[in-house]
Amino acid sequence: MFTPWPIGFVSTPYKDTSDIPKGLGTRHDAEGVITILPDFELGLTDIEGFSHLFVIWEFDRTQHFELLGTPPADNRRHGVFATRSPLRPNPIGLTVVELLHRNKAELHVRGVDMLDGTPILDVKPYLSSIPSESLRRGWLEEAEARANGNATVS
Ligand SMILES: C[S@@+](CC[C@H](N)C(=O)[O-])C[C@H]1O[C@@H](n2cnc3c(N)ncnc32)[C@H](O)[C@@H]1O
Repeated sequence: MFTPWPIGFVSTPYKDTSDIPKGLGTRHDAEGVITILPDFELGLTDIEGFSHLFVIWEFDRTQHFELLGTPPADNRRHGVFATRSPLRPNPIGLTVVELLHRNKAELHVRGVDMLDGTPILDVKPYLSSIPSESLRRGWLEEAEARANGNATVS
């Protein structure tokens, strides 16, 4: 296996995990700046044309993992691989952000959900060809239905 190393770091408004919005219906509108390290800046060539990016990053402030957990969006337990829990065997985060603009090695983005100073492992253009009507949202859909008082699955 390869040993990952940061290609950059992200500045966000979040100093503590309790600052980050969580739970059903949460929208991530916060802005942040991903600063790519000089060795990798050339790799940003032509990124400006993309509206959204996948950002792959490290949960660098978690120490352990839990295979079952209760996410903020539900009061029931789910497997880690059926959630976006930060407590994962490989502490890798994935966030889709909107690219607002680039200034040299800086990517100004909207939609961050990482702590300030989080190491960035990779950035890729966001492209999805899956029509929304083909997407199933699993337990999240059921949790939303329960929260709205019209659950059909118990
Ligand atoms: C639910 S995870 C989702 C992250 C990403 N969107 C994903 O799906 O992989 C987001 C939470 O991870 C935690 N978190 C954010 N940055 C972190 C970091 N650098 N180290 C550890 N935990 C972090 C915060 O509690 C935050 O609310």
